[in-house]
Amino acid sequence: MAAQSDNSTKKNSANLSLHTAEGVVVDIGTGDGRFVYQSARANPSKFYIGIDANTKPLEKISMKATRKPSKGGLPNVLFIQAAVENLPEELNETADEIHIHFPWGSLLRAAVSGDETVLQSLRRICAPECLIEIVIGIDEERDKSEIERLDLPKLSTKYLENVLIPSYRAARFEILESGILVASDWSKLETSWARKLQGGSNRQVTYLILQAS
Ligand SMILES: C[S@@+](CC[C@H](N)C(=O)[O-])C[C@H]1O[C@@H](n2cnc3c(N)ncnc32)[C@H](O)[C@@H]1O
Repeated sequence: MAAQSDNSTKKNSANLSLHTAEGVVVDIGTGDGRFVYQSARANPSKFYIGIDANTKPLEKISMKATRKPSKGGLPNVLFIQAAVENLPEELNETADEIHIHFPWGSLLRAAVSGDETVLQSLRRICAPECLIEIVIGIDEERDKSEIERLDLPKLSTKYLENVLIPSYRAARFEILESGILVASDWSKLETSWARKLQGGSNRQVTYLILQAS
């Protein structure tokens, strides 16, 4: 209450919280950063961090984000090159929201197997009550070689209930929701892979909503 009677304090605290007042959103396996960029533009009072092991697809968008706001620049965006297995310690306890959309390679294997090291790494960057959204798209025919290479289990309801959800629980993530998304829902996700994967396939898109407990 003291701050309200002091105009200078009021101004400072408003400035300090300009871009993070509504939280920090982390997108892991961000790809070309489309989700981060579009979301940051739509929600200027949240701060968005896009993370990917591969920075090549991020070159264009990360340059654009540093331009003047009139030229597409966004002050509430940061891109980081890192693997989910080894997230920077500077991110410890910072994320209010984490997204993983259409993971591939080792990120897909970790999400589908509930890899303990990766779940600990994710849990480490969570602020209290952080929400996590994981959207996994697998087409058993088209992705056959990747499924075999990664030795992925089938994401059946039984597997989710008996194996995956308990692994997430053991890493201190509560499951709020899980299920299958219909194409008309997942194709609305503002990510480049949601666009690429649309149409004509038997892709099963499974989602999990978790909360750090
Ligand atoms: C299919 S793309 C999806 C990109 C984006 N999320 C989208 O929906 O458009 C999967 C991304 O996961 C990244 N990735 C794979 N393994 C990773 C890991 N261990 N750590 C971080 N990113 C990883 C890849 O580099 C790739 O950009």
